[in-house]
Amino acid sequence: MPKSRYIIIKQMTSTHTHWDTIYTTKNHNKVSWHQAQSTISLDWILDITNKNDAILDVGSGVSALADNLLEKNYQHLSLLEISQIAIQTMKKRLENHLDHVHFYHENILTFQTNTQFDLWHDRAVFHFLTNEKDQQTYIQKLKQYLKPNGYFLLSTFAPTGPKQCSELNIVQYDSDKITLLLDTDFKLIKTTSEIHPHPDGSTQDFNYFLLQKT
Ligand SMILES: C[S@@+](CC[C@H](N)C(=O)[O-])C[C@H]1O[C@@H](n2cnc3c(N)ncnc32)[C@H](O)[C@@H]1O
Repeated sequence: MPKSRYIIIKQMTSTHTHWDTIYTTKNHNKVSWHQAQSTISLDWILDITNKNDAILDVGSGVSALADNLLEKNYQHLSLLEISQIAIQTMKKRLENHLDHVHFYHENILTFQTNTQFDLWHDRAVFHFLTNEKDQQTYIQKLKQYLKPNGYFLLSTFAPTGPKQCSELNIVQYDSDKITLLLDTDFKLIKTTSEIHPHPDGSTQDFNYFLLQKT
């Protein structure tokens, strides 16, 4: 096997293992990004989509977003997750809604699908991509699988927020940085910040960006 391909496979395997270990060893309510209810993401999705829209949650973890959208009668949700443990947890938790939820056990960087999404949601996943090549691979997938005029709802740590999460380095984003990265393929509709309460009592600064494919 060529050395570069070996390194890529090794990196992907270690990402799977890292996140499976987190979900195996930590109580789901104690992880830093835990929200009992989805906040800004839910409000914005309810504002701009309808219940028949195809919505993808990238790196969905065990987030309450899917539960919250199902309560509002959303019909076509897709959850993409690198951790098998998180996927199993969600399949069990949403077992009465499996007609309306599709699960992808995938690394977003190798994701392939025939589906086109109306909205692509990412809370605290894209910011783990610290090298330009991975960021561009993600953006290429985003452009490929998002419908024309579809929405990209992204949440990342803000420049005033942490520099790491789960012992991994992250990239902090503000409006200028995200607009520059997405270039002319997306227009920024709105942005806001959130002071997220960490379960340990501290806080973390997040930024939310709503972008639309041009
Ligand atoms: C900080 S957590 C956020 C979880 C969820 N979005 C939320 O807001 O509760 C990051 C999630 O992304 C997943 N993840 C990390 N890298 C990924 C990748 N390359 N592809 C798919 N999922 C990934 C992790 O397993 C984890 O569940």
